[in-house]
Amino acid sequence: MKRYQNINILLIEDEEYDVRRVINTLNLFEETLKVRDVVSNGNEALDLLQSDTNKYDIVIMDYQIAGSLKGEDLIKRIKLIEPLIQVVVITKHTINITDFDFANKLLEAGAFWYCTKYPGDIEEYIYQPTDFLISIFNAYEKRLLQSSSNESNKKLKQNISDILDRKRIIGVSEFVNKLFNKIDKLAASDVSVLITGASGTGKELVANNIHYRSERKFENFIPINCGGIPHDLIESELFGYEKGAFTGAASGKAGLFELANNGTIFLDEIAELPLSAQVKLLRVLQEGEIEKIGRTKKTKVNVRVIAATNKNLEEAVKNGNFREDLYYRLNVVPLMILPLKSRKEDIKVLIEHFLEFFSVDMGIETPKISDDAIQFLVNYEWPGNVRELKNMMQRLLFNLEGKITLEDVQANIGSRIRSAELEHSGILFDDDKMIPLREMEKLVRKKYFEFVRERSESDAEAAAKLGLAPSNFYRMSKEIGLK
Ligand SMILES: Nc1ncnc2c1ncn2[C@@H]1O[C@H](COP(=O)(O)OP(=O)(O)OP(=O)(O)O)[C@@H](O)[C@H]1O
Ligand SMILES: [Mg+2]
Repeated sequence: MKRYQNINILLIEDEEYDVRRVINTLNLFEETLKVRDVVSNGNEALDLLQSDTNKYDIVIMDYQIAGSLKGEDLIKRIKLIEPLIQVVVITKHTINITDFDFANKLLEAGAFWYCTKYPGDIEEYIYQPTDFLISIFNAYEKRLLQSSSNESNKKLKQNISDILDRKRIIGVSEFVNKLFNKIDKLAASDVSVLITGASGTGKELVANNIHYRSERKFENFIPINCGGIPHDLIESELFGYEKGAFTGAASGKAGLFELANNGTIFLDEIAELPLSAQVKLLRVLQEGEIEKIGRTKKTKVNVRVIAATNKNLEEAVKNGNFREDLYYRLNVVPLMILPLKSRKEDIKVLIEHFLEFFSVDMGIETPKISDDAIQFLVNYEWPGNVRELKNMMQRLLFNLEGKITLEDVQANIGSRIRSAELEHSGILFDDDKMIPLREMEKLVRKKYFEFVRERSESDAEAAAKLGLAPSNFYRMSKEIGLK
């Protein structure tokens, strides 16, 4: 028999004779099973439970006791006070021994188990002792399991609220307020969503919010940059392959759709998906099944799809670059994110938010920013939208000397951040802080990638400007910490 710590029991029984029989039966394991209290009616029991909800692990209760509070009502009240307490019911042997409805009602009320007492002429035990004791231990085991699952649920919930805190959408404009409502509605459903909007407006952020507020929140959210995977690898990345499916497939690989099973897949830059993969994607959306390369049997998956693009997909459909049927499948609910310049009320709160966010991160006091600087930023066009604003606030803090002035802001805006700024920022030409070439290259690369990306509609466009294959651009962005 497994060793337990004390198992604390409250006994509700109004007949002396049965109290003795129960205690006698439990005494076979008296070093573990501790009857802490014995009461003869329901109200007394509830008083005791309420005074210390942790005092008892298990309640053993007679079904027929004196007083008005008994039976199913009493079980429910006990479970209301402390759901973790396990209730074992004993009833007179004369009633209900083949009445499944009766048994069922007890279980529905929240009882763990019930048994009929031995006839009155059996003085020693209340019930077949080994059965009775095993049930008590099982009840205790259930309590432990429930308690640890409550603990891990609490932790999961905490993780989710931490994630949501980090992924908070900041804004006070009417547009953002409406967006909150839409996100709530979308989170409550399972429909496919197509998010459109210019680069840096927050499409991925919105997708995250939909997922982490939905029923799927404890499952994976898998973002995929469709423009970042080389065309010939897209299918194997999305759908996976079996061992031996092609030369070199020494072992099988799970596709991203499998990893996202029961969760959400975020197909970013969907317009970049090649036509061959579009066909396959359509099939997954229609049939909920994926075809792994090298496997004839299909695999069922349950994945919510959120897609995003900063391209005009309708145009792509007209030009024959995007399948119309797929477009309609993805675009069940369209969600358009406005560029920052069309919701200027958000600019000030975003500035304040990011200044505080990065200051805390850098362990410095949040600086003040002058009114004319804010005014200047509110009037600015923000071609790179919130991403540009976020990066700019980070840069400003980096070069900070006291309050942020209009001049600081002007020097940091748009195309004015050039190598001169790098020099003056002291990163590269600091007498006291010379760094290895490799690090210097990484810094410059990061700045330049940011610079180009802020001025591009998509990763693919930025890659083209840099003369890189999209997949290389994506990999390098990851390496320097931009993804
Ligand atoms: N309303 C907002 N509140 C707080 N942060 C935001 C907001 N909008 C965007 N951001 C931040 O700006 C950055 C860019 O957002 P995101 O990556 O979601 O944009 P995107 O629309 O997906 O851009 P792209 O088309 O270039 O992929 C992220 O760091 C994101 O957290
Ligand atoms: Mg994005």
